[in-house]
Amino acid sequence: MGVTLTMDVAAVRHNVAAWTRRLADQHIEVVGVTKAVDGQPEVGRAMLEGGAVALADSRLTSLARLAEQGLGPRILIRPPEFDELDTALDVADGVLLSDLSTARALSARPPGTRMPVLMVVDLGDRRDGVLPDDAVALAARLADLPGLSLAGLAVNFACLSGLQPSLALFQQADAILGRIADWCAGEPLLSIGGTYCLPHLLHFRPRHRCLVRLGAGLYFGHYTLPTMTPIPGLLRADPILTATVIESRRKPGPPEGLVGPDAFGHVPARPLPRRVARHVLLAMGRRETEIQCLRPLVPHSYVAGMSSDHTLLVVDDGPAAESAPAGGEAAARPPLRGTGAPHGDHGDESAGATVLRAGDTVDFALDYEGLVRAVGSPFVRKVFTERHYCDACASPNGARGGEAAAAPRPGRPGEAPAGGQGQADLVHPASWPAAPSGDAGGTRRLT
Ligand SMILES: Cc1ncc(COP(=O)(O)O)c(C=O)c1O
Repeated sequence: MGVTLTMDVAAVRHNVAAWTRRLADQHIEVVGVTKAVDGQPEVGRAMLEGGAVALADSRLTSLARLAEQGLGPRILIRPPEFDELDTALDVADGVLLSDLSTARALSARPPGTRMPVLMVVDLGDRRDGVLPDDAVALAARLADLPGLSLAGLAVNFACLSGLQPSLALFQQADAILGRIADWCAGEPLLSIGGTYCLPHLLHFRPRHRCLVRLGAGLYFGHYTLPTMTPIPGLLRADPILTATVIESRRKPGPPEGLVGPDAFGHVPARPLPRRVARHVLLAMGRRETEIQCLRPLVPHSYVAGMSSDHTLLVVDDGPAAESAPAGGEAAARPPLRGTGAPHGDHGDESAGATVLRAGDTVDFALDYEGLVRAVGSPFVRKVFTERHYCDACASPNGARGGEAAAAPRPGRPGEAPAGGQGQADLVHPASWPAAPSGDAGGTRRLT
């Protein structure tokens, strides 16, 4: 059956529409960024149906996929390499760039249509872009190139250095655009990215036409990092990775012999429980995603380790009430989540307990990094579906989905938020070793 990624395109459509409506009064329009899903046409189509005025991606292969389906207009948000210029002209309707030599090479290509360029200005994130003091000079030179037309400027936040957006920085960008407006071929355009901008945009009254480039927030309905703050009005729809159980048995605590590096040469970061617990082995590994990206939707479980092709999910399903934390957590334990029917006694299982066994499947909610890795893995089957979640999405369908506005308060990084949204608990019983500090994956919840 293999590993399956399931994404709800209805939630993406809804989320684009929600922000399109909310920003309409400010004359700010939404551009849907498809790079996390490699230009998946179903997702691009949903974005356009939701009201996105354009699609954007950093890879030409993704733009080509969108172009094949007639989805656009399409913006390339990373400058093309020199051997990609012709493809860029074929599949992109606009390009973000700030390198003069690339601009000259692009300008020199046939067929002579003027490629609109958004000049990238670095307001402090220190990834791409010309510094503000040099913006006017570069704009003049770009505008001079016969094969290009300067459309405006673009700014990025929280990409490389984590520079957070702010109203003041938007206003700075708008002011710089004012200074280069005379060099622009048409109505000057301000292009802002990405999801972190949203709360700051609500008070922004741009003097120029403004587009916001959104990716992650449209997929997840919440900020991916650092606080998982829900975005009011957006559907919470974490992509789900589903893997198959290939082995399941109760095992004692950590190895007693000499312990060294794991298969990847790393010192294992997640300790095994110190007592007997159910070890559920899955047919999935680091070729599909990464350990820190996974939030298991099985109650009382955590991902204890991952090699290239195996994942170990440790589940507290045992007769462990005696060592469970105070508060009756073990007694109130919900049934395990997976496709398997409740199984009774299988020799090494506690009688009556619901267990996962070979052939069952286990769901994980993915974070942004997990999504990107799963999308890029040839071993993951991708399913883009409408209404994977509950109808109204106002009440969570089991562990999946829900209205972000109704989500529990956000936690600090690594802290489990209070309450829940139907998401599985991810709790180490007190007698189990906690995940080491800095490795929040074992105990965090991505809500
Ligand atoms: C240039 C650019 N614009 C916009 C985005 C979208 O950002 P986000 O996924 O945070 O919405 C990204 C990141 O993916 C980007 O690199």
